[in-house]
Amino acid sequence: MLKDTYILGVETSCDETSAAIIKDNKVLSNVVSSQEVHEQFGGVVPELASRAHIRLVTPIIDKAFKEAKISKDQLTGIAVTYGPGLVGALLVGLNFCKGLAQSLNVPFIGINHIEGHIYGNFLSNPEITFPHLTLIVSGGHTQLVLMDKHLSYNIIGKTRDDAVGEAFDKGAKLLGLPYPGGPMIDNHAKEGDSSFHKFPRAFLKGDNFDFSYSGLKTSLLVYLKDKTDVFIKSNFSDICASYQEAAVDVLVIKALNAAKKFKVKSVGIVGGVAANSLLRKKLAEEIIQHKMDFFLPDYQFCTDNAAMIARAGAERLSAGIESGMSLNAYPSLKLNQ
Ligand code: KG4
Ligand code: ZN
Repeated sequence: MLKDTYILGVETSCDETSAAIIKDNKVLSNVVSSQEVHEQFGGVVPELASRAHIRLVTPIIDKAFKEAKISKDQLTGIAVTYGPGLVGALLVGLNFCKGLAQSLNVPFIGINHIEGHIYGNFLSNPEITFPHLTLIVSGGHTQLVLMDKHLSYNIIGKTRDDAVGEAFDKGAKLLGLPYPGGPMIDNHAKEGDSSFHKFPRAFLKGDNFDFSYSGLKTSLLVYLKDKTDVFIKSNFSDICASYQEAAVDVLVIKALNAAKKFKVKSVGIVGGVAANSLLRKKLAEEIIQHKMDFFLPDYQFCTDNAAMIARAGAERLSAGIESGMSLNAYPSLKLNQ
């Protein structure tokens, strides 16, 4: 498996333009350009994202080859995100890669962005044991996925409304923090007392692994309504810590319950929110205490990046799976689709 393969990965599904080259499980380059144009709008503006990807895709790919110190004719395959994401943004990377694959005459594979996040963890931890439970937590997704083997996904729970990253970003916006606010809440929370205020935890009834995050953001809105600016400012870290703990508690408890119920050997967290320091610490403690292995991707493979797409591509290509040139962008693509 994965012997002497040089895979180019390209990711343009949202507001990061990224290109990476991996040799088997080793990352030779992973260039990520985050589009700052969206910050002033408090969220990603799709048309601006597409335009920035068009401007950046060629220089970023060139940079990835330069840093990897390989030439284009050494490539053994090209992997690119084809969904889920913003349709205009996806089309930029997808069409570029189709053209490149045809001109170089190498296999081409479309990758589900969520599968990419899962394989970001295999980049950092090639020794991951099966059955493996992955908690996928990003700006667009909150899912628990069971894997018995490579490329096999059983979704056992997902959010019914907002994703947890969205709860972080929307909460941050209510607190006057710029987009994306998740990392800032994380930072402020480090100085705060999480018992300052009890925000609700939506556990849902019974043996249920689904999530609900829209109520958390609303509860912050209601909480802040009658508070003065002086009060918010002087208790800012405590409010952040309380809000963060409510978001993280549900993830930790549900992931632990699922891991026990399905008797997995190992648990991992992937996606942008996997960079959250409280989540990393709390879930690790619980999982290790229950004698299962715990695997985290390095920070650079948590938020959107192309190395994870290349790694998922390597897995698919080595299993003999390729995409045809008729592959289209699929904004609402699901795992297993
Ligand atoms: O996976 P990702 O880069 O993009 C999507 O596919 O959505 O995830 C971005 C999300 C954003 O909501 C961002 O606020 C959140 O990940 N995030 C964090 C942290 N770092 C990134 N949330 C909480 N704590 C962090 N340290
Ligand atoms: Zn992502």
